[in-house]
Amino acid sequence: MKAITDKIPLSIAEKKKVSLFLRREDLLHPQISGNKFRKLKYNLEAAKAKGHETLLTFGGAFSNHIAATAYAGKFHNLKTIGVIRGEELLENWHENQTLELAHEQGMQFKFVTREAYRKKNDVSFIDGLKSELGEFYLLPEGGTNSLAVKGCEEILNVEDKNFDYVACAVGTGGTIAGISNSAVDTQKVLGFPALKGDFLKEDICKFATKENWSLCSDYHFGGYAKVTTQLINFINEFKKATSIPLDPIYTGKMMFGILDLIKLDYFPPGSKILAIHTGGLQGVKGMNENLKKKNLPLICV
Ligand SMILES: Cc1ncc(COP(=O)(O)O)c(C=O)c1O
Repeated sequence: MKAITDKIPLSIAEKKKVSLFLRREDLLHPQISGNKFRKLKYNLEAAKAKGHETLLTFGGAFSNHIAATAYAGKFHNLKTIGVIRGEELLENWHENQTLELAHEQGMQFKFVTREAYRKKNDVSFIDGLKSELGEFYLLPEGGTNSLAVKGCEEILNVEDKNFDYVACAVGTGGTIAGISNSAVDTQKVLGFPALKGDFLKEDICKFATKENWSLCSDYHFGGYAKVTTQLINFINEFKKATSIPLDPIYTGKMMFGILDLIKLDYFPPGSKILAIHTGGLQGVKGMNENLKKKNLPLICV
């Protein structure tokens, strides 16, 4: 499936003689949007082919992947279980927009401590979940596995070969790995991590087959799900100028980074840049609830 591409007509791009485009993967599906659509595609096929009736996956309280898996499960008639980081949520998860949405699609939750959550890739932990909850098709945190990367390899298509740079946000690394694998030799792939830490490179290398990618690590705004007034103002100004909504955890940080790099003359004049809008807009409501409590400006969608 092909998503539309918008030209981003911002004056800074014109001034620096680069052209910036945004692939609207966020519009692929109203609920299973962006990279989630790509990551789930072949996993859902595999789950059904193997006769599974249940999908089990992992995520935090605002996880886009949890929301998308819940919708995908309902759509494909598969039960869904979300193993959620943070036992404290057991008391008040109804107040969390993402979990409430996932629950409405039929997702069952298992809340675990942060310590237990860290064992999410251990065979003994998974076996324990199977004894407790029955057989399931396992989707790792963020949905990243080799079938997810195969799906993300379909983000780029043959008509994209004229772009010099392709940019995306990075969380678990599956999306950038897929884009990198399908990029043509003349293209550079830039990843904008949404979190701090050097482990990302290692994670990306598990699935990336080429060395055409690099990370722009200065735009995480303090770490995963951390936001600043500067970032919120940027997202709102971008929306005003282009009518395109960005999310504060992934795509807002990526776009801030790309425009900053344009200002800093990172891209030679004449460069054609394709940024990927990987979705994540379902998380804005929940983020706004938090911002309201902190008396910070809200994000427009
Ligand atoms: C909206 C959005 N964009 C980008 C990413 C990063 O993708 P990946 O985890 O494959 O690096 C995520 C997280 O999975 C996401 O939810």
